[in-house]
Formats: sequence, C-alpha cells, structure tokens
Amino acid sequence: MSQRRFLITGALPYSNGRLHVGHIAGAYLPADIYVRYLRATGADVLFICGSDDNGVAALKTAREEGITVEALTAKYNRSQLDAFTGLGIRFDVYGGTHQPHYTPMHEKISQEFFLKIHDKNLFVKKKTRQLYDPQAGQFLPDRFVTGTCHHCGSPNAYGDQCESCGKATDPLLLINPKSTLSNATPVSRETIHWYMQLNQLQHRLREWLESKRDTWRPSVINFALGQIQEGLPERAMTRDLNWGVAVPLSDPDAAGKVLYVWFDAPIGYVSFTAQLLADQGRSAEDYARYWKDPECKVVHFIGEDNTIFHAITWPAMLLATHDSDSIQGVRGEYQLPDQVVANAFLNIKFPGKDEEKISKSRGTAIWIEDYLKDFDPDPLRYYLTAIAPESARTAFDFDDFVKRNNSELLSTLGNFFNRTLTFVAKYFDNQVPAVGERQLPDREQIGRCPETVSRVAEHLEQCRFKNAMSEMMNLARAGNVYFDARQPWKTRKDNMADCGTALNVCLQTCRTLTHLMEPFLPFSAEQCAKMLNIGDAYRQWSLSSVELPAGHQLGEARILFKKIELEEDAHA
Ligand code: MF3
Ligand code: ZN
Repeated sequence: MSQRRFLITGALPYSNGRLHVGHIAGAYLPADIYVRYLRATGADVLFICGSDDNGVAALKTAREEGITVEALTAKYNRSQLDAFTGLGIRFDVYGGTHQPHYTPMHEKISQEFFLKIHDKNLFVKKKTRQLYDPQAGQFLPDRFVTGTCHHCGSPNAYGDQCESCGKATDPLLLINPKSTLSNATPVSRETIHWYMQLNQLQHRLREWLESKRDTWRPSVINFALGQIQEGLPERAMTRDLNWGVAVPLSDPDAAGKVLYVWFDAPIGYVSFTAQLLADQGRSAEDYARYWKDPECKVVHFIGEDNTIFHAITWPAMLLATHDSDSIQGVRGEYQLPDQVVANAFLNIKFPGKDEEKISKSRGTAIWIEDYLKDFDPDPLRYYLTAIAPESARTAFDFDDFVKRNNSELLSTLGNFFNRTLTFVAKYFDNQVPAVGERQLPDREQIGRCPETVSRVAEHLEQCRFKNAMSEMMNLARAGNVYFDARQPWKTRKDNMADCGTALNVCLQTCRTLTHLMEPFLPFSAEQCAKMLNIGDAYRQWSLSSVELPAGHQLGEARILFKKIELEEDAHA
C-alpha cells in the first residue's frame, strides 16, 4: 500500500486573546490526537495552524490594550504557541495571517484567490450604506455599534443582534446608535463592496456535500445541507479597514479596502503550508502535493461556530478556483476538504453553580497558561478527551477533572504500570521474565492487546476520540483484573515460572498500552517507553503488539501520574 498523505488543520485562533480549555477541547486536542495517530501508522502528515490576525477584533483589542495591532497579534500569537507547546500540541508550522514572516506569502496567495474568483465573475460590486465613525475615522462593523433595539426597545442591542430579544438587528435601524470604538454617534455613509455569489456554486456544493453524508458527523453535514436548502446569500468579501490584505484591484473603488477576514483566514492554511515548505527549501510550488492532489486528504478541525465557513464558504472559494467541474478533485486544482470535524462548545461548571458558558468577560474561563503553572499536561488531555463535546455540549467540571485524574489515570492506568514494573524490578532483576506455558487467562489477556489496538484504530480513523480512549482504558482495566486474578505475590513463593508468565503478559500489555497512549497522553507514553526501554518504537502502531523478548532489560520504574489534592481535602 502506498503511503497515505494528509494535511490537517486546526482553526486559526484570533490573536486577540489567550487560549482556554474550550478552544483546546473544541479543535486542537482532537486534531493533535489524530495527527499523532496517523503518524504512528506511517502516514505523511502536515499539521498546520497559526493565528488569525486580521479583521476588526484585533483592532478593537489593540485599542483597549493601548498597543499597536502588530504588537498585539505578535504577543498573542506567541502566547498561543506557548500554550499549545505546553500541552504537547505540536504543529509543523504555527504561522499567522499578519505575522511578518508569513505576511508576504499570505498576501500573495490570498490575492491570487481573490483575483481567480474575480476572473470567474463570481463577485458583484455593490453600493451600500454603512455606519461610519467620524471620530475613529472608520466604517463600523455591525457588532461595533450599539443602540436601542428596533424590535424590543432594549437599550443595549448590538448592530448584528439584540441579546434581549434574540433577534437579528440592523445597525442602520438601531435607535440612538453609538460607536463602541469612540462613543461617537456614527453617521450613515455610502460604500462599495465585492459580494461573492455563493448561489452560483450551490449545486456543486450540494453534490459534494451529499457525497459526505455517511462520513461526516451529522451535526456538520445536516447544518451544511440545511444552509444550501435555504439558499446561499451573497456575502461581502471586502471591508473598509486599514488592517488586512489589500483588495488587489486597480479599480479606484477598491482603494483603502481589505479582504474580509473570513476570506483570508482559511487561506492561511494554504499560505502557512507554502511558507513552511519554502523554509524547508522545498520548491515554492511543492504545496501542490498537499493541496492540489486528490491523493492527499485535507481535514479541518474546528469548533461548531466555524461550521458555515468550513463546510460552505471555504469549499465554495476552493471550488471557484477550479477550471474543471469535478467535485471529486483533479490533480493540479485545490482539493476540497475530505473531512470537517466540528466539536460542540465546552461549558463550564463551578461547584454549587449551574453549568454555564465559558466567558472571558464574566471570568468563567480556565486559561491554559494558568493550568500549566499548576498541573501536568496529560491529565488535561485525558480529561478533555474523556468529556469531549463530540456530539453535544459537555461541561468542564473541576471536581470531575480531579476525580478522573485520581481514579482513572492514577488508580487504573498508572497503577497497572507501577505494580507491574515494581514487581519485575524486585523479583526478576528488572528483566522481562521468560514465558512458561500460557494458560487460557494468559492467552485471553495477550489476545486483548491486538484486539484493542484494532478497535482504537477503527475509532480514530472515524474521529471518535472519546471512544478510542475509553478502549485504551479498558485494556488497562483488564490488565489490573488479570494481575489480581493471577496473584503473582503468591505464585512468586511457590511457582516462580508461573509468576514469570503472568508478569510477562502484564509487560506485553504495558507495551501495547504505551503505543496506545502516545496520541492521547504523549508525555506519559514517553515515560512508559523509557521504563520499558523500547526507544522510539512506541511511535509505530505496527509494533504495538510485538512482544518484548524474555531477558529484555527494563528501565527504571517511575510514578506516571500525580495525585491531585483539592485544597479543602489537603487542609482537612
Ligand atoms: N479565528 C476563527 C475563530 O477563532 C477561526 C478561523 S478558522 C480559518 O473562530 F479557517 F478561518 F482560519
Ligand atoms: Zn431586542
């Protein structure tokens, strides 16, 4: 079989804030697990991410923090990368749509996309009216306008939505509008924008989406097909801003305009790939191997709020660049995503309170930076996968995090390694004991190893991370049950050969577990590999059930997971 090839992306985080547990659970952790798994199977994988720097959100935060937008986005790009690295989420490239090293490539490719779509006559240029802040000297995005709701009279409606009545609003209809940038009263001004006629692509999009019915999560596919059913609107793909990628037209109406941030952001996936390959000295066009070859599967990991952009708008942009009308992909043309994996949001649950949304302003977020000051990365990876919001919202509950760390990671997985390795160190000179004759329970336990491996693989292939990890834990649990049933602490006194057989089987189980742990708990898996003295072999799925030979020297047994004591308990 030829080597499988994948290009995996994590949604580009806005570089106007730090990362919290919701971000990680939504897109980046599942993507990292998937990438680690694919690599272990020998696939050629590129894992792409970076910050989403353009758009008004960054401008607004820069004003609030009193620094330039360049400094702001550089600062958060860095803080995000540190958070990812601390959690073992390792991208091949962490670019940024306005980070100096990536900007020239990003502008070039973004402008090429725009021009290609322009050449295909898929834009219409239209005159509209929009609110303008005379004090800030700029047009106002809808959510930068507040005023009295024209539906219900609530005084604090935004230009895009009223949070009191929940209805969509229109900034031009708000009563007593105010600019959130300067507090000035905005005025209505004429402006011109380029609208993409998504409806012209909707038949091909529908056909393509229909082909994904059986392989995409129902929430994603149903949402996307529902949007097409309703009919796709025209969307303005340009903005009046002085921060972003310039609209590449000589038309005087395009002066001072930039591409809409949701137009250039997904192109970051492509431009960061191109820059990465250029930095590696590969030809500037080498990204075609990943982006323009139907053999390569492009998979986007996102949070649910990004679904429309990744399942409709971005595929429409890619389709618009095609000269062929194949939706299955022609070599040399940008491939549509093979898979769009979206998780629901993560809520948060504080003791004695109801589950609530994670909110920066209400202070209900758990920041990765803070978490990493107090705890190891793997327990969070474990917990966020165990409660992954794969089909519906779930909640981060700190008490539950502690409980699962102590009862699952520590008492089940850690304990199995610990009792096996300390026993072997003590009674078998820290070498893999010889196997005597394996009886039925031994053969059953050994058999569970490859069976678990194939079940975990099957789940991971389908992006069912929670189920995959729980199969892994079942193997550890079965290992403990087997250890108890074989009673090596007794047999070591009267039947050392039988005792050796049992510990041999336990060690083989540890070996398989080490391979299985790598995608989920990479730091701990590395420790396990050292304890088993198997070098880097644990990064290869195909070796996961290869038995450690009798006499194999083991490394030093170490405690894998720490008990987390809640402060109340500690003082009790
Ligand atoms: N910045 C967006 C968000 O955090 C995600 C952008 S994904 C991309 O919601 F595809 F546009 F890059
Ligand atoms: Zn209202």
